[in-house]
Amino acid sequence: MEKLKESCQTCGDYGRMSEEEMEEVLKTLPMEKIPEGFDLYFYEGRWYPSIFFHGIISFQQHFKAQDADLILITFPKSGTTWLKALAFTIENRKNYPFSESPLLTTNPHDLILFLEDEIYGKNPILKLEDLPSPRVLATHMPHSALPTSMKESNCRVVYMCRNPLDVFISFRHFAITLSNTPFDPSLIEECFDMFCRGVSIYGPFWDHVLEYWKASRERPDKVLFLKYEDMKEDPISHCKVLAKFMGLPFSVEEESQGVIEEVLKLCSFDNLKDLEVNKNEKNRNGHPYSMFFRKGEVGDWANFLTPSMLERMNKLMEEKFAGSGLNFKFS
Ligand code: A3P
Repeated sequence: MEKLKESCQTCGDYGRMSEEEMEEVLKTLPMEKIPEGFDLYFYEGRWYPSIFFHGIISFQQHFKAQDADLILITFPKSGTTWLKALAFTIENRKNYPFSESPLLTTNPHDLILFLEDEIYGKNPILKLEDLPSPRVLATHMPHSALPTSMKESNCRVVYMCRNPLDVFISFRHFAITLSNTPFDPSLIEECFDMFCRGVSIYGPFWDHVLEYWKASRERPDKVLFLKYEDMKEDPISHCKVLAKFMGLPFSVEEESQGVIEEVLKLCSFDNLKDLEVNKNEKNRNGHPYSMFFRKGEVGDWANFLTPSMLERMNKLMEEKFAGSGLNFKFS
């Protein structure tokens, strides 16, 4: 693996390797294929998609966190789109009236960018130097794989997670949209087994959430830990917590004027899903933005998974989260 790091330090703007070099390195890593055709490579104890490999390594090697940075981190399909919309709206609520928010015409993923994709990935669209401070950025990277500068700096992290069964089902649907294949229920068992074995994009799931859970306990002023289910249940309280953590608490006046409700309405699943941009437009890779808005519910897994799958997951959660105080609501 040293070869990978060395190459990244010596080549390119942000240390990107050539396609050939990357191919050679990937050949040396354990690989598993998700049925829809995505290759996951096992690197330093985690499963990463091949498409983000350049960006992941380059981000690890080169990102210099600043104390004022706010980094939004999620396990994929845990509500990233919602969190980006909320953070953007909270941050910019004094810059635009809600009726003129860029969120009405731009997908949240184009307002807050992924470090390992749009910034350090193969086809970057923005240089960090061009972002105004405080920078708001996003990643799916596990805590143990974050660049050292992020752990050493005072930058703040908002981590959002979701129960593993809904994450699993949400990703199944996302994968078929990305690969343009029909939903095949016969694949669920095989994919569920992979997920339970830890083989999932940025997985294992348990390690991802546990690491951030522990970090949030150790440094609550720097790492805010949110759950999708809690946000759905009590959005107002969580929106307040998020704004306060961002250093932008709602004032008494704002509260009495209903600003929190406005933020939540603008960022709601129903509102975002029906916007022209999210209904009919495509991202720079040609994928429809609508793929980020499916059902937006807690408990949809029950329409796809069997009681024995639930039992397996419950056992795994007991085992993996034992003594941590972490748990999830499934409905
Ligand atoms: P479902 O597939 O269960 O519907 P991510 O944003 O991390 O990719 O996660 C996608 C999941 O979040 C999808 O879940 C999607 O429908 C849901 N989602 C997207 N926008 C949302 C919003 N504004 N509020 C609540 N859930 C949202």
